[in-house]
Amino acid sequence: MTELLQIENLDAGYGSIQVLRDVSLSVRAGEILAVVGANGAGKSTLLRTISGLIAPTRGQIRFAGRDIAGRSSAEIVGLGLTQAPEGRRCFSGLSVEANLRLGALRRPDKSSAVIDAGLEQVYGYFPRLRERRNQLAGTLSGGEQQMCAIGRALMAQPKLLIIDELSLGLAPIIVAELLHILEAIHESGCTIVLVEQDISVALNFSDRAVVMQSGRVVLTGDAMSLRSDDDIVRTYLGG
Ligand SMILES: Nc1ncnc2c1ncn2[C@@H]1O[C@H](COP(=O)(O)OP(=O)(O)O)[C@@H](O)[C@H]1O
Ligand SMILES: [Mg+2]
Repeated sequence: MTELLQIENLDAGYGSIQVLRDVSLSVRAGEILAVVGANGAGKSTLLRTISGLIAPTRGQIRFAGRDIAGRSSAEIVGLGLTQAPEGRRCFSGLSVEANLRLGALRRPDKSSAVIDAGLEQVYGYFPRLRERRNQLAGTLSGGEQQMCAIGRALMAQPKLLIIDELSLGLAPIIVAELLHILEAIHESGCTIVLVEQDISVALNFSDRAVVMQSGRVVLTGDAMSLRSDDDIVRTYLGG
């Protein structure tokens, strides 16, 4: 398998506070990779660095054959790497459809035919969003806001979709519904990185997993063997 995203020896943080320490990992084209770790492990900081919101102080980030470390987040979205951020961040005063349209801002072709086709695709995955297309995003349930955030990310036509804390605060039945839809999105050819505090959600859904602890990658392996290793689950994942 070829590597879609490759991160090497990455250091990053906030001002003088270093969070990421020598992080190396890769995402293979076509896979579902889980990034797991306790609250504060550095997962969201890693995602912010990948998507250009934080400049790394050391290391390389290559996406689809290009060096993207230090590029703007707009440019990175334009290359096909998008995120549904932690906390979903839907614009509560805008309608669902207006939120979705914002996701297409960085597409080179913003003709109405292209945008309409994108909306149709998103509504195909999430019929609930179609029903609520004119409703203000702030009035959606948590699960629907997650749908809106994922839908908005899909409007950029990503090669790589990263979801930060898919399951946080959602009932298991809603999480199952979201994972089912993500499976269809994955089958359409989109590579997925799922960032999760919930280990069982992450390891059951992914092909491989990366475990983070205190800003470092402490373990990488295929999800099935991590899942079945009680020592690993106890030591790193607190399960
Ligand atoms: N904006 C910020 N400024 C300073 N420190 C931050 C900021 N955001 C996160 N941190 C710190 O970075 C560390 C990793 O946080 P984060 O990346 O959010 O972890 P995770 O997503 O795994 O819960 C934590 O110690 C957190 O306090
Ligand atoms: Mg986080």
